[in-house]
Amino acid sequence: MRKKLVVGNWKMNGGQARNVALIDGLKGAIPEGVDVVVCPPYPYLAQVKALAGELGVGLGAQDLSEHSAGAFTGDVAAPMLRDVGCEWVLVGHSERRTLHGEGDQLVAAKISAALDAGLAPILCVGETLEERDGGRAEEVVSSQLASVVSQLGAVAMAGLVVAYEPVWAIGTGRTATPEQAELMHVCIRESLAGAGVAAGVVRILYGGSVTAANAAALFAKPNIDGALVGGASLVAENFSSICVAAAAS
Ligand code: PGA
Repeated sequence: MRKKLVVGNWKMNGGQARNVALIDGLKGAIPEGVDVVVCPPYPYLAQVKALAGELGVGLGAQDLSEHSAGAFTGDVAAPMLRDVGCEWVLVGHSERRTLHGEGDQLVAAKISAALDAGLAPILCVGETLEERDGGRAEEVVSSQLASVVSQLGAVAMAGLVVAYEPVWAIGTGRTATPEQAELMHVCIRESLAGAGVAAGVVRILYGGSVTAANAAALFAKPNIDGALVGGASLVAENFSSICVAAAAS
């Protein structure tokens, strides 16, 4: 049995006062029986750690450097994230891949840095609309996974969470149907198993316009183990409703 996991990706949103209001809104609203994590921007990690600790909500970062320290202006290392209380980190989000040119090799190096520091990486994969329309969605996602597996090895992969986020569904209001998502999650699990990973224990999250209205139908699918939530994680009521749907599934 894989415990459901709901991760809020705040992206480049927030501010000290707004963070207090958001976390306040989650008080008493996060159910038992589901793992919940929020990923604020770097400057607010320590603030949110202090605020969210008592809620039992975990802390994640949105990215990290592949290096552990040194002359890398503007970058943040995995040991620093651990130092301020992070347990999780997103790696290879499509916005990093497209806006910052991050490729599979760098993504694998970042995962390795995260694992070395004791952080739990959430590896994001997903196809563009053009790739889906061209019938290449599964091929693209399998190749993103294969490249990371080949660099990290099957044993390390079992310690990962994978987030399937079709690029065309992120921030667009256009969600993959539960059937489309489930098919891809099965494909991801099979790709991992085929590479020798203990795929049955790997949690595979769906991300892309998850809302309080569509979460329950997604979570009802046997291979959808939770959600990576962007926009809806910025409104306490919406985020907590998604967590409640996960706990109830
Ligand atoms: P969204 O973002 O929920 O706003 O579509 C998801 C993500 O990018 O992680």
